[in-house]
Amino acid sequence: SVASNFDYSANLFPLSSSTAPGYAPLGAPTSAAQRHSGLGGASLEKHKTLTYMNGLGLIVGLIIGSGIFSSPSQVNANVGSPGASLIVWAIAGVLAWTGAASYTELGGAIPLNGGSQAYLSKIMGELAGFLFTWVAVLVLKPGSAAIISIIMGEYLVRAVIGAEAETINPWINKAMGLVGLFIVTFMNCLSTRLGTRVNDGLMFLKFIALISVTVVGVVVALTGFSFSGEANMDWKTHDWFEGTSKDGSHWAVALYAGLWAYDGWDNTNYVVGEFRNPSRDLPRVIHTAMPLVIICYLLANLSYFLVLPLATINNSNTVAVMFGSKVFGPIGALVFALIVSASCFGSLNSSTFTSSRLVYAAAKEGYVPTFMGRIGIGSTEPGMSTTRSRSWFTKKLHNMFGDEDTGLFFTPVNALIFNGVLTAIYALVGEFGELLTFYGVAGYSFYFLTVLGLIILRVNEPQLERPYKTWITTPIIFCCVSLFLLSRAVFAQPLKTLIVVTFVLAGIPVFFWRIQGRDQVSKRETGSRSAAPAWQFWKRLRR
Ligand code: ARG
Repeated sequence: SVASNFDYSANLFPLSSSTAPGYAPLGAPTSAAQRHSGLGGASLEKHKTLTYMNGLGLIVGLIIGSGIFSSPSQVNANVGSPGASLIVWAIAGVLAWTGAASYTELGGAIPLNGGSQAYLSKIMGELAGFLFTWVAVLVLKPGSAAIISIIMGEYLVRAVIGAEAETINPWINKAMGLVGLFIVTFMNCLSTRLGTRVNDGLMFLKFIALISVTVVGVVVALTGFSFSGEANMDWKTHDWFEGTSKDGSHWAVALYAGLWAYDGWDNTNYVVGEFRNPSRDLPRVIHTAMPLVIICYLLANLSYFLVLPLATINNSNTVAVMFGSKVFGPIGALVFALIVSASCFGSLNSSTFTSSRLVYAAAKEGYVPTFMGRIGIGSTEPGMSTTRSRSWFTKKLHNMFGDEDTGLFFTPVNALIFNGVLTAIYALVGEFGELLTFYGVAGYSFYFLTVLGLIILRVNEPQLERPYKTWITTPIIFCCVSLFLLSRAVFAQPLKTLIVVTFVLAGIPVFFWRIQGRDQVSKRETGSRSAAPAWQFWKRLRR
């Protein structure tokens, strides 16, 4: 167990300790005492099953989604040359790696559920934690899901209509993406187990895709064989840096696109409580997964450059399909399109799963209306569906996917629907490249703050026990690069930055309104001491 100077038994979130009707344990500890007792509560303790290999599969499966099959065009179009692109991919990878290492240290030092929300609350006060949740629920989670659905739609349409079709009405792509989104949301409403089973099945497909891309690239490089009939780029004589952009803003936008492909590295922190031996295995998972992904991505990019003309790479959101069609003809295009859309489907599925849990947790903290934290449909009490008489079909479904004592629809349905609707709106109004930067600006603001929090914690709480301690240069590198990225975004995308800033600021009045409401509820219902305002929280932390 992890000793620390923090008073974890303090009832920091009074409302969440009340057992309001409609709440049900979802594998997450419910009472504040449970939640603050360290690595998860009773129900998580029961399932301490994850090993090193499980963790590796989980994180790699989560990170490899849509990005490596689509972002290369964004990266190359912005920095202008293959050499510069590869540098961007390497920088983005190292940045993600330093971020993941920093988060791992935080996860050990502050062993609470909730990731950034918990760390920011602890280190900078509850307002910071709230603003993270606010932005994550309204922007980050649905925004990232929208990006993935758009890509999934594009690949599906490519599979059906054909890879070579030059112009496809973007609305057809979006419609396909929304169909996929609907299926994923419905599946997640139905049962938790269904989603995880589907994911396991999809995982190895992504590897097959990436490995075959790499192998083809190596063959082309070694033999000089041309799949397209035209001469390949001659990698020995070609100037890899010809046309490199000198504009820092272009580099920043390219970096955001690369970072998208690496995104998801913070997700180990959500499952920390389910590891058998977190303090040993978590750092090991990070330090194998990240280099593995970086190498895979660099190799895949290299292959794209060797096999495809630069113009094709620059102008396509579906680089992988172009690759498949060049190398293996129409069948190759079809197979690649299907594999990538399946990969996106898996990503969207895990993303939907975690977003709904985030909304659910926020409802417990009183950050969003409590009905969002409800489990099950309508007025049904949790678990009710199992006690009702069931038809043959629903019985079958239950046997296949329902958890024994919970049954179908034992999921945060309202949170899922809310998240699905927001995602659909983003997907409809947004466009891939735009959403990428938008997501990057909003996401990296909070990654930056959280890692900055790690440095603050090192200074303020040097005695705090840290099962894993990264080099101090790690968070410093992360902070410097992400600060550059964020500052550049202001010039590259002023409007988007303004929207993000407005979003964040709009959360401040909401914070005081929700906290006040929570105060009154907790006084009335439990008579316990009121929720601490941010400054009081800070004082308590500093004590
Ligand atoms: N890296 C993933 C991709 O390339 C995106 C993951 C987004 N999900 C998340 N939980 N941050 O598609």
